[in-house]
Amino acid sequence: MGNGADERSGDRAEAARPSNRHSLRARPAGEGPPLLPDAGATRKREHLRINLEEDVTGRGITNGFERYRLAHQALPELALDQVDTAVTLLGKRLAAPLIISSMTGGFAEAGALNRVLAAAAQALGLGIGTGSQRVALAGAATATSFQVRDVAPDVLLLANLGAVQLNYGVTPDDCRRAVEMIGADALVLHLNPLQEAVQPGGNTDFSGLARRIAAVCRALAVPVVVKEVGWGISPETARLLADAGVAAIDVAGAGGTSWSEVEKHRAAIPRAQRVAGAFAGWGIPTAESLRLCRAAVPHLPLISSGGLRTGIDIAMALALGATAAGIAGPLLRAAARSAEALHEELLVLIEQLRIAMFCTGSGTVAELRRPGILAALP
Ligand SMILES: Cc1cc2nc3c(=O)[nH]c(=O)nc-3n(C[C@H](O)[C@H](O)[C@H](O)COP(=O)(O)O)c2cc1C
Repeated sequence: MGNGADERSGDRAEAARPSNRHSLRARPAGEGPPLLPDAGATRKREHLRINLEEDVTGRGITNGFERYRLAHQALPELALDQVDTAVTLLGKRLAAPLIISSMTGGFAEAGALNRVLAAAAQALGLGIGTGSQRVALAGAATATSFQVRDVAPDVLLLANLGAVQLNYGVTPDDCRRAVEMIGADALVLHLNPLQEAVQPGGNTDFSGLARRIAAVCRALAVPVVVKEVGWGISPETARLLADAGVAAIDVAGAGGTSWSEVEKHRAAIPRAQRVAGAFAGWGIPTAESLRLCRAAVPHLPLISSGGLRTGIDIAMALALGATAAGIAGPLLRAAARSAEALHEELLVLIEQLRIAMFCTGSGTVAELRRPGILAALP
């Protein structure tokens, strides 16, 4: 099936390889300019390093797409060349329904990665999100590491902040500044209660956030998207978010990158490692989250991310009602190898999607959603 173990272990093997072009290890004293002293940038640097060097895939949980099968059509009655993968998301056309999910920024190497990711999105007509811009709200010096419009003038570009920061001093005006800082088309607010809870000094007051998200939706001229970071959105949360006025939800479900595993690797003391380690299998598998949210908020555009690893996964997500898919970890690892490796990775995903569409007789993404195309396995 689409999310087979082979792709995963291949991805893991790449992650374990020490040959990443962008070195993220702490710079020895006296070599080059001092690293940013800011705690946020240091944390993001650690996150990036761990994602590149460790296996941070959730354990004992999958993205859930293996529970489905697309209906093969031996007589698809169309030519492969006719398959059109284009979709419109948040008012912008994507040549293929794929977003390079929100990941990084805040220091020089992250800025270099953002530019590689953004240039690939521009070349292939995809969407892209930056990592959380909180650090750049605090100190303008890091803003350039998020700015990619010069290499990606036409892409759907998504700004990013942690929703919980709205309880820790970030205002709707700050949200507007984050969007303007990078010329974004939309703002993504991420929800990550588990990550905050398992990291030392995390921001764990999530009370009253729906009301604050609603205030951001009202204040901004651009659409607001809310996403998880790898544990999925429940139908209850989806309804709360729809009521708050969000323009779309990215379910970012379980089955791929696990942020409790990332925090486990970052934890300095055994107790924190044990606490985080128990959550390796936590969350709502992406396919499940997508299906439940599709039913809960039938009119809201949904993005499906979290553990998607092939174009067949993407095709199944679209068949389940997503407007587009998102992928983070594997694209980061490819970009860290080289711009060419990233381009190749993206071409493979898009070609897999096109062939899945062809072999289901779907000339367009809309046709991929026709009834009966996706069967749930017993
Ligand atoms: C290195 C790295 C940094 C990330 N930083 C952010 C972030 O700042 N904001 C955010 O919304 N999600 C962030 N994410 C989460 C991803 O956007 C995505 O939801 C998650 O990794 C699941 O997708 P995957 O299984 O394809 O990696 C990050 C992911 C990675 C790998």
